[in-house]
Amino acid sequence: MLSESTAHLVENTAVLGEPEMVHIKGADDPMPTRRLLAVGEHRPRLRGESSLVGRTWELNTATAILEEAVGGAGCVVTMVGPAGIGKSRLVRETAAIAAARGVAVFTTYCESHARDIPFHVVARLGRASMGIEYLDAGAARAHLRTQVPDADADDLLLFDDLLGIADPAVALPDIAPAARRRRLTALIDAATLARTEPGVYVIEDAHWIDEVSESMLADFLTVVPQAPSLVLITYRPEYLGALTRVSGAQTIALRPLSGAQASALTTELLGSAPSTIGLAELVASRAAGNPFFVEELVRDLAERGVLHGRPGAYLLPGDVTDVEVPATLQASLGARIDRLDPTAKRTLGAAAVIGSRFDADLLTSMVDDADVGALIEAELVEQVRFTARAEYAFRHPLIRTVAYESQLKSDRAQLHRRLAAAIEQRDPAAADENAALIGGHLEAAGDLHAAFAWHMRAGTWSTNRDIAAAHTSWRRAREVADRLPDDDPNRVSMRIAPRTLLCATAWRVGGSGADTGFDELRELCTAAGDQRSLAIGMSGLVTEHFLRAHRRESSRRAPEHVELLESIGDPTLTVALLPMAMVAKYDIGEMAEVLRLAQRIIDLADRDPTVGDLIIGSPLTFAIAMRGTARWCLGIAGWKDDLHQAITMARRVDPLTRAGVMWCMYITAIAYGVLLPDATALRDTADTLAAAEQSGDNFALDLARTARGVTLVHQHGPHREAGFELLAKIRERALNQRFALIALPIVDIHIAREKARLGDLDGAIALARTVVDDMLSAGGCIWSALATTVLVEALVQRAGEADLGEAEAVIERLAAAPADEGLVLREIWLLRLRALLARAHGDAAAYTDLRDRYRDMAKSLGFDGHIAWAEAMP
Ligand SMILES: Nc1ncnc2c1ncn2[C@@H]1O[C@H](COP(=O)(O)OP(=O)(O)OP(=O)(O)O)[C@@H](O)[C@H]1O
Ligand SMILES: [Mg+2]
Repeated sequence: MLSESTAHLVENTAVLGEPEMVHIKGADDPMPTRRLLAVGEHRPRLRGESSLVGRTWELNTATAILEEAVGGAGCVVTMVGPAGIGKSRLVRETAAIAAARGVAVFTTYCESHARDIPFHVVARLGRASMGIEYLDAGAARAHLRTQVPDADADDLLLFDDLLGIADPAVALPDIAPAARRRRLTALIDAATLARTEPGVYVIEDAHWIDEVSESMLADFLTVVPQAPSLVLITYRPEYLGALTRVSGAQTIALRPLSGAQASALTTELLGSAPSTIGLAELVASRAAGNPFFVEELVRDLAERGVLHGRPGAYLLPGDVTDVEVPATLQASLGARIDRLDPTAKRTLGAAAVIGSRFDADLLTSMVDDADVGALIEAELVEQVRFTARAEYAFRHPLIRTVAYESQLKSDRAQLHRRLAAAIEQRDPAAADENAALIGGHLEAAGDLHAAFAWHMRAGTWSTNRDIAAAHTSWRRAREVADRLPDDDPNRVSMRIAPRTLLCATAWRVGGSGADTGFDELRELCTAAGDQRSLAIGMSGLVTEHFLRAHRRESSRRAPEHVELLESIGDPTLTVALLPMAMVAKYDIGEMAEVLRLAQRIIDLADRDPTVGDLIIGSPLTFAIAMRGTARWCLGIAGWKDDLHQAITMARRVDPLTRAGVMWCMYITAIAYGVLLPDATALRDTADTLAAAEQSGDNFALDLARTARGVTLVHQHGPHREAGFELLAKIRERALNQRFALIALPIVDIHIAREKARLGDLDGAIALARTVVDDMLSAGGCIWSALATTVLVEALVQRAGEADLGEAEAVIERLAAAPADEGLVLREIWLLRLRALLARAHGDAAAYTDLRDRYRDMAKSLGFDGHIAWAEAMP
C-alpha cells in the first residue's frame, strides 16, 4: 500500500511536462508521477491543455515581480477578469516558472458554497503553507511545532484550532474572539517574516471568499512586502472586497484574447483542415476572446458529431452554414452536460452539490451507482488525488455552476439533505466545526428547522472564536426563520433568537455602526410578549449609541432600557444589563442617575462579584467604581472607599471589566484633578494593559490603552511621550471605526492641553474650541467641563484682544448648561477658571477671593489634583 505521505508527493506534482509512469516504493503498479514542484491544492492539468496564446505582457510582468519577491521584496499580485478568461491559467503558468526555479507554491481556492463558512480559506491556505494537508491531526500538530518553534503554547493551540487539527482532549485557551484573531495574525505574520525560503501563495477565486478569511488575509498581506513571498489572488470583476484594495498590490486585468490570438487557439484545437476554416472563424467570433468558451465550443461540436477526426485534426463534413453554435458559454456547457447518460448526469449533479472538489466516499453516499469515469471521459471532471481516498475536481468552476443549476430543484434538495447527513456522520466529533456547512446544505434542502438549529449552533461555536463569524451564522439563521410559513408555531421565537444575539453584540463587531436591527426585534418581541429578548437586544443598542457617541440617542434610550429591566424584575438580568445604561448616563454626565443605577446593581448583586456575567465579567466591580466616580462628581463622601475597593476587586476580574474600571475611574479622576497620577495609578494601568494584551479582546485592549495613555500624559519626561503615542493610536483606531468614538474627545482634549503647554496656543485654542462646541451642542458630556477648562486656560494665557471675552463667554456657557444639582465636578472648575479670568483682568480682589474659595473647596473635597493646582496659584 502506498503511504499517505508518499502518495501526496506523487499526486501533488505540479504543472510541468507530461506525467510519466514510475515505480514507487511500496506500490504494486507504476504510478503516474512528475517532479515535485509544488504543494497545496494545485489543480494540475492532466491532459487537454492547449498551448498558451498571447498573455506575453501579463506573464512577463508576473515573472518580473516573482524575481523581486524571490529577492526579498515580496509582492501581492491580483488577477482580475470574467469567468474563463484565463486567470487560473496565468496563475498556473506563473507557478510553473516559480516551481521550475525551486520556489515552493502553496495554493488554495475559494468556493461559492463555502462563502459563509468562517475561516474556510485561511485554514486551507494555512494547512497548505505549513505542509500539513495530508498528515493526520497528531502528525500535523507535531509538524506545525517544528515550523514555528518559538511560538507561545496558547497561540499554538489557537493555531491548531484554526487549521482544524486541534486535539479534542485539550481545552482551547479562554481567549476572546478579537484577541484570538489578533494573536493568530501575529503568529502567522511572524512565521511569514521568519521564512527565508521564498514562496508563492495562490488564492484562487477570491470572489467566493468567506468574510473572516478575507479580513485575516487582508491583515496578513500587509507584511508580505517584507518577506520573500509572492501572493497571487484571482477574482472575477464582481468582487469588490478587501483583497481588491491591498496597498502596494499590482493588478493584472485580463482582457479578452485578440482576434488573432483567439483564431490561433481555435486553429490549434480544430486543426487546419480547409473544411474547418470557416468554422474556426465562427467559433472565434462567437467566443469573443474567451479561451474557455473556445475550448467548450470545440468540445461541444466534437461531441455532437459535427466534427469528425480527433482533437487538433478535425474535419467538417457538412457545410459551416448548417452548424449551430451555442450562444453563450453557459449554454454550451449545458448542452454538453445534457448529453451525459442518466447515471453520469446524476453523479455530476451530486458532485456539484458537494463542491468544486469532491471525494469518492461522499459521492457514493449520495448516489448509489456513481460513475466518475464517464465525467472524466467527457472532460468535465479530473482526478486530482490518487490515494486510497481518491479525489476529483471540476475542470472549471463554471462547469460546476452549470451542473448545479441545471438540476431539478427537488433532486438537488434531496442531494443536499443526503450530503448534510453524510458530513455529520462522517466526523461526528467535528460537528460544531462543520455546523455552518451542514446548516447551509440543510437550508438548500429546504429543511428549515434543522438548518436553523445548525446555523445557531455554528454561531455559538464562533462566538468564542470570531464574533463576525458568529454574526454571519446568526444572519443565516435569521433568514431561515423568516422563510418559515406563517402558521409555524415556532416561527416567532425562531425569528427572535438570532436577532437578539445580533443586536446585543452589534457593538462588538465594529464597523460603520450599521443598523443593529433593533426596531424589528422590538416589533417581534412586543408581538410575542418576549420582554427578556427585547431587553438583551436593547442593551446592545444602548451600548452601540454610547460607543459611537450618539449622545442624544443614548440619553433617550438608556431610561427606556432601565424601565424595561425593572418591569421584567429578574435580578440577574438586571445586574447583567444595567451597566450598559449606566455607562451611557456617565458619558452624558448625568451623574445622579449613574449613582442611582450603580447602587441598584450593588444591591441586586448582593456582594457576589460574578452575578450577571452575561456581557461583562463582573457588573458589581464595575458598579462600585461607578458609584465612587458619581459620588466624587457630586461631592458625596465615601467615594475614596469605593474607588479603593473597585481597584482591589478589579485586579481579580476579567480583562474587560478591569479595563472598564480603569477607564471610568482613572481617566475621569486624574483628568479632573481628583486623583493624582501616582505610582498606584501607573501600576494599575500598566497591569491592566498587560492583562488585556494577553487575553482581553480588542475592545478591552483599547479601553486599557486609553486609561494607560491618559495616566502617562499626566506624567513628566519620557512617560508623557509614550502616553501620547498610545493616545495617537487610539485616535486613529477610533477614526477608523475600530474603536469607540467616545475616546475621541478625551484624546483631543489632552492633545490641546499639550499644545498649550508647548506654547502652541493658537493650535490649542482651535482644537479645544472644536471639542467644546461638539460637546455642548450635543447636549453635554462628561468631558464638557474638561474641554472648557483647556480652552479657557489657553485663551487666558494668550490674552489677545478678544480672548478674555471669549473665555468669559465659554465659562458662562458651561455654567449655564443643564447639570445635576451639586455637581462639584463642574463647580470647582468654574471657581478655578473664574479666578484665572479675574487675574487676567487685573482684578486682584476678586482673584484672591476666588482663589481662596477654590483652595478651600479642593481641600474640603479631598481632591488631590486640585489641591496641588490651587497651591501652585500665586
Ligand atoms: N492564453 C490562453 N491560451 C490558451 N488557453 C487558455 C489561455 N487562457 C486560458 N486558457 C484556457 O481557457 C480555460 C479557462 O481558463 P481559466 O480556467 O484560467 O479561466 P479563469 O479566468 O480562471 O475562469 P474562472 O473565473 O471561471 O475561474 C482553461 O482551460 C485554460 O487553459
Ligand atoms: Mg479560475
